[in-house]
Amino acid sequence: MTQFDEQSITRAVLDRLSGCRDPRFKEVMTSLVTHLHDFVRDVRLTEQEWLGAIQFLTAVGQTCTDKRQEFILLSDTLGVSILVISLNHPTDRGSAESTVLGPYYWEGVPERPLGANLAEGVKGEPTFYSGRVVDPNGRPIAGALLDIWSGDGEGNYDMQIPGETQMRARGKIRTDAEGRYFFRSIMPTYYPVPTDGPVGDMLRAMGRHPYRPGHIHMIVSAPGYETVTTHLFPAGSAYLDSDAVFGVKESLIVKFERHPPGEASGERIDVPYYTAQFDFRLRKAA
Ligand code: BEZ
Ligand code: FE
Repeated sequence: MTQFDEQSITRAVLDRLSGCRDPRFKEVMTSLVTHLHDFVRDVRLTEQEWLGAIQFLTAVGQTCTDKRQEFILLSDTLGVSILVISLNHPTDRGSAESTVLGPYYWEGVPERPLGANLAEGVKGEPTFYSGRVVDPNGRPIAGALLDIWSGDGEGNYDMQIPGETQMRARGKIRTDAEGRYFFRSIMPTYYPVPTDGPVGDMLRAMGRHPYRPGHIHMIVSAPGYETVTTHLFPAGSAYLDSDAVFGVKESLIVKFERHPPGEASGERIDVPYYTAQFDFRLRKAA
């Protein structure tokens, strides 16, 4: 048959996969075509809307640079990123949960000594982070690596600050023989995802705000264990219940204790400061 109606077109496209040699690709494309066609029929997509969608996706691609990934932002704001993470890193008894990587990861940050101040000269309230990295039985993992990054106390990442060429509020910290880590940084605050591109237009059209609650990012890894890409969120932060990228996990919300000025980790701190404590339980690698 050479001519198709609005139902038979789906079967016709699926039949063209008969020569596909990669079974997984065939499975994914079969489902994609089926759902895409169902979606188009379901909303009775108009030609104008179809063209609008093509122009939107074109703009998303054109907004990508070596420093900006608008497609990932689209995936994040539509909840696809966290869905993929949930499928691939299911929550299990007490293991540290995974969440989105986000666009501000900087590969190759240097390792700093245990206890280092990662946020020297960065705006924000001083915060001392500590805890342990442990195995599924709660035993310490010595030499685990925490790759850490956050925005400043006003919600700006170094990469976003015009003229800033240095890494700020980033660093790698390795656990000691007892699996302990500690470092100084700042209290992270809420901030908007980038809204000056097509994803921002989409959020406005959907009537959505663009904010993420305060969080500090970490990638925690150790040989023989599953790497965890995660965040810690200060309890009480704005937008915890409406994160623009759906990345909040209850288990990652941490009480940041506020202290008056005084001595902390052998340093004199002249302003109020915070302490935050969290243990990361890693899963054995498959
Ligand atoms: C972030 O946490 O840095 C982030 C994640 C997803 C989209 C935008 C920002
Ligand atoms: Fe972030």
